[in-house]
Amino acid sequence: MKPDRVVVGTSSDKAKKVMTALYEPFVRQGNPIIFMDERSAEMTKYAANSYLATRISFMNEIANLCERLGADVDMVRKGMGSDSRIGKRFLFPGVGYGGSCFPKDVQALAKSAQENEYDFKILKAVMHVNDLQKEILSSKISQYFNDDLSGKTIGVWGLAFKPNTDDIREAPALTIIARLLHKGAKVKAYDPEAMENVKQIFGDKIEFSANEYDAIQGVDALAIVTEWNEFRTPDFDKMKQIMNAPVIFDGRNIYDVQVTRDLGDIGDEAFVSEVFTKYGITHVVHLAAESHVDRSIKDPLVFIKTNVLGTANLLQVAKNHWHGNYEGKLFYHVSTDEVYGSLNMGFDLFTEKTPYDPRSPYSASKASSDHFVRAFYHTYHMPVVISNCSNNYGPNHFPEKLIPLFINNIIQKKPLPVYGKGENVRDWLYVEDHARAIDTILHKGKHGETYNIGGHNEWTNIDLIKLLCDTMDKKLGRSVGESRNLISYVTDRAGHDLRYAIDASKIEVELDWVPVETFESGIDKTIDWYLNNQEWLEHVTTGAYQEYYQKMYQE
Ligand SMILES: NC(=O)c1ccc[n+]([C@@H]2O[C@H](COP(=O)([O-])OP(=O)(O)OC[C@H]3O[C@@H](n4cnc5c(N)ncnc54)[C@H](O)[C@@H]3O)[C@@H](O)[C@H]2O)c1
Repeated sequence: MKPDRVVVGTSSDKAKKVMTALYEPFVRQGNPIIFMDERSAEMTKYAANSYLATRISFMNEIANLCERLGADVDMVRKGMGSDSRIGKRFLFPGVGYGGSCFPKDVQALAKSAQENEYDFKILKAVMHVNDLQKEILSSKISQYFNDDLSGKTIGVWGLAFKPNTDDIREAPALTIIARLLHKGAKVKAYDPEAMENVKQIFGDKIEFSANEYDAIQGVDALAIVTEWNEFRTPDFDKMKQIMNAPVIFDGRNIYDVQVTRDLGDIGDEAFVSEVFTKYGITHVVHLAAESHVDRSIKDPLVFIKTNVLGTANLLQVAKNHWHGNYEGKLFYHVSTDEVYGSLNMGFDLFTEKTPYDPRSPYSASKASSDHFVRAFYHTYHMPVVISNCSNNYGPNHFPEKLIPLFINNIIQKKPLPVYGKGENVRDWLYVEDHARAIDTILHKGKHGETYNIGGHNEWTNIDLIKLLCDTMDKKLGRSVGESRNLISYVTDRAGHDLRYAIDASKIEVELDWVPVETFESGIDKTIDWYLNNQEWLEHVTTGAYQEYYQKMYQE
């Protein structure tokens, strides 16, 4: 304990001596022990806590006004706090104060004022602002969803009234959760220490999660309610992947708005335009896409929105920002071999001249985006380049695609759902080879040209799956053939393209790129990565993933 000061209320000389002896070891650096009468001492405590509560409510009102005026309250806070007359502390706006001291002391002081017929206007306002403040976050969430929270799930990070405690007395989280439930939302919550206490209040009306990422699996939005340190630097990419929508209500202003904004949507013109202005973008390497064929069959419109409209938006913003001055500029669009349709078994290969013949909503949306990129080249003379690549594999791959999905299932000893007879052929390329190809094309590609990228590595699905089974049996110390027993054949994917195979001679001859990873070494590295990163795998395969998996393979 290192008190700034010790305040003692007593008029007894004996008590003064005892208290001095008691507290002196704690104020060796000269901080004062202040003696006064009992009433003044009591008032000092109430006044100090009420003043700090007043600063918080004041800042909360400043924050609300900043929002209306378009000012950044975080900058305002920094500006105010560096004035030594004001000081930095207790200026953080948020969802309101709680805990054992502030609410109790403010109320006690207000009550004393009332009993003594004194109208303490500021204190009443402080309490009123704090009550309203606790409701602001839930109101914002509700407004965002057009006042209809039925069927929505909201993740809540933080339940304690402040970090590093399990204290939930007067905690804003309680008001926020009660209001969300009242409006029909489901709530998934996580707090490092306070969950047991909150269970006493909400019981099974809300779901408690094992960690912060579990609490946002499949949620429609996240509310940050307590500023625990572990919430300050999360893996935003992972969050985006596991949440239904990347919507965060930051009740404690812990994230830099710019950082979260930079993770925005390519279809959002204002956002993309802001990024172009802020960073003076000269080169676009466009990979952002909805990318999974199975998902596109279930929900084609999302693919049109991101892949077609999103790409058109990027092109349009680039055109507007570059103003026809295309010197030193490039729009590089990363596409897929699936735009060419399907090959028969045999020796035919997709070349850059193969006519487009997309068969799935995914490939149709990518084909459409390729056309828009070429249209901007021909119509506006924008420097563009396109590459169409075969199937990638490697570490960090989300387990909805074949290789990571099957590695995960083999680890879990779950059935391996093979479409049809597993005869479909894909040409597999290690992801780092694709990345090197992108780098090569970015620097050496000829404007207006298209380059096919492939691994000369055709595998039928069933042979690939058997290879995975056998390699993993060895690595996991399982008996020979054990994982092959997990193979189960399921109804074929609608419109399943039979064979893709790339002729990559153009990029090899003209730009001097060749794949360097052999399939054996690439698969080996990939499996090792998944075996060494099972925590990552567990995080991304709970919640929303489970629902998705059920829908895709078990309906
Ligand atoms: N993986 C392959 O085998 C393969 C092969 C050929 C081409 N491609 C192409 O490469 C690109 C990347 O593929 P991937 O396999 O890494 O896909 P992925 O689905 O793993 O990653 C796509 C990324 O795009 C982002 N994204 C999606 N919608 C967005 C939006 N509206 N605004 C901003 N970002 C958005 C996602 O958050 C994600 O980070 C895609 O364009 C895909 O068509 C992939």
